[in-house]
Amino acid sequence: MNAPDTAGSTQSPGESLSFDRAASFYNATRSHPPQVTREVDAMFASLLPPGGRILEIGVGTGRIARSALANHNTLVGIDISRKMMEQFRLALLSGMPSPLLIQGNASSLPLTCGCMDVVVAVHVFHLIPAWQQAVSEAQRVLKPGGMILLGSDDSPPDTPYSRIQEYWGELVQKHTGRRAHRGSISLDEVQQYLISTGAQVNILRTSTWNLTKTPAQIMQRFEQRVFSHTWTIPDGDLQAMVHELGDWMLAEFGSLDQEIDSPTQFVLRVNRW
Ligand SMILES: C[S@@+](CC[C@H](N)C(=O)[O-])C[C@H]1O[C@@H](n2cnc3c(N)ncnc32)[C@H](O)[C@@H]1O
Repeated sequence: MNAPDTAGSTQSPGESLSFDRAASFYNATRSHPPQVTREVDAMFASLLPPGGRILEIGVGTGRIARSALANHNTLVGIDISRKMMEQFRLALLSGMPSPLLIQGNASSLPLTCGCMDVVVAVHVFHLIPAWQQAVSEAQRVLKPGGMILLGSDDSPPDTPYSRIQEYWGELVQKHTGRRAHRGSISLDEVQQYLISTGAQVNILRTSTWNLTKTPAQIMQRFEQRVFSHTWTIPDGDLQAMVHELGDWMLAEFGSLDQEIDSPTQFVLRVNRW
């Protein structure tokens, strides 16, 4: 894994957050276990019409979209980060159909047609300030009868991972006066918004895997700015916050060097109208 940048980003809070700086290490830090990847492939195969047209907004390195390609669908991927999509291109296996990858913004899609069978969005709405507009854009490019799939790696609220994220959010608020993320507060907020437009939801889940790390390893990831919610924090604040996080984890988990497990599933919310 290449060392992530150490300096905070200068992007303004009103802009979506590009993952250019994460392109070289994203896959190494976010990949699914092989069994979960197979289950995600099977979920997409069960949902996508053969030969159907799929759009993924915030397609990134294709961690999820590759399931659509494996199923021989026509895939359009849109992302504001050219470098993330470059990693997707580099990882394409020979013989796989090529996706159409477009640098663009999900809140103003560069597509005129209402021709997509499916729009997929995984871990992206929390990065987009105008996320409601991105939802409307996704609906605009869907065919009648099309689906919006909202995906995420979910850990229940009482797991160490979720509690650490929640505490980090409090630290960000305290030190910077802002929320940890500039877009939607949670995927539930996006889901409720879709329901308010008349969506019927069906939820699919993979089997559970454990995110296993020591608190010391977690502190190192925050310090190295592996996660996007650290990128806009000034260096001095980040040091102080990681220190506070360490004190909190020591009190919560009893040691900084003992591994803690957080059960996690990939969850897909299938929205139809
Ligand atoms: C956390 S990554 C998720 C990538 C992929 N969906 C996955 O699950 O692996 C979020 C991606 O969304 C992109 N992104 C952020 N805001 C965006 C926007 N307004 N329009 C399109 N892409 C955006 C980022 O550049 C990044 O590649």
